[in-house]
Amino acid sequence: MDNLNKISVVNINKKYNGQIILEDISFDIKSGEFISILGSSGCGKTTLLKILIGIEKSDTGSILKDGEEITNKKPSERGMGLVFQNYALFPNMNVWNNVAYALKAQRLPKEEIKQRVDDVLAIVGLSEFALKKPGKMSGGQQQRVAIARTLALNPDIILFDEPMAALDADIRMSLRKEIKELQKKLNKTMIYVTHDQEEAFSMSDRIIVMNDNHIVQYDTPNNIYKHPQNDFVKKFVVNHLDEKAKAILDSTK
Ligand SMILES: Nc1ncnc2c1ncn2[C@@H]1O[C@H](COP(=O)(O)OP(=O)(O)O)[C@@H](O)[C@H]1O
Ligand SMILES: [Mg+2]
Repeated sequence: MDNLNKISVVNINKKYNGQIILEDISFDIKSGEFISILGSSGCGKTTLLKILIGIEKSDTGSILKDGEEITNKKPSERGMGLVFQNYALFPNMNVWNNVAYALKAQRLPKEEIKQRVDDVLAIVGLSEFALKKPGKMSGGQQQRVAIARTLALNPDIILFDEPMAALDADIRMSLRKEIKELQKKLNKTMIYVTHDQEEAFSMSDRIIVMNDNHIVQYDTPNNIYKHPQNDFVKKFVVNHLDEKAKAILDSTK
């Protein structure tokens, strides 16, 4: 079991209207890893996530989870949960009901819904906000509700699509830590899409760097920093890290 890759993506290609969006995408993710997909806007990150969770089809290639082919499985059969860029909470439902919504739709027993919603609200630190409406909360808190909503479905892989894009800098910093702590606590495989170098470098076990619809390097933050494999990674990733991030990386072997 241990040496099985949690996710293997093999030779994914995708075009929209004849235009190449993803080109020969292949990578493995181990169980419990925190992986970032780092790339600028338009390079195909969201499309890749959609293909992983099954709401979009690739033209070629396959996806394996725990060694089993899931390429043609329905989203609901993949055990993956997505936290969106814009959290799209129901404005007229309180936090508790926002989180419970999908569980009710699955017709789970009442006691189990209560248990799960209470548990995940505690995990993201929002128990006291259970009866609040999302509109009365900060952007960071709303994003935590969105995370709780995904956690409640108990996926074994959690995907994030630029979850902090709409948040202020200081909230982003604290939410980075919270997501990392969450991962340690839950020990779940996480795939985190971002265009932000600092975010990818501070949170990830390994980073998939994308440019022009393909992967240009996949390695640990430390190796990418110390051995960028091409000019793109050197110029647009490593050189763009701030001094603090560089100092941390310089101090590691
Ligand atoms: N449903 C679609 N139909 C046509 N083109 C699309 C569709 N979705 C995305 N694209 C195009 O594919 C490219 C990659 O988009 P996307 O995966 O959203 O990139 P990213 O998330 O990295 O910003 C963009 O040029 C975008 O305009
Ligand atoms: Mg996107």
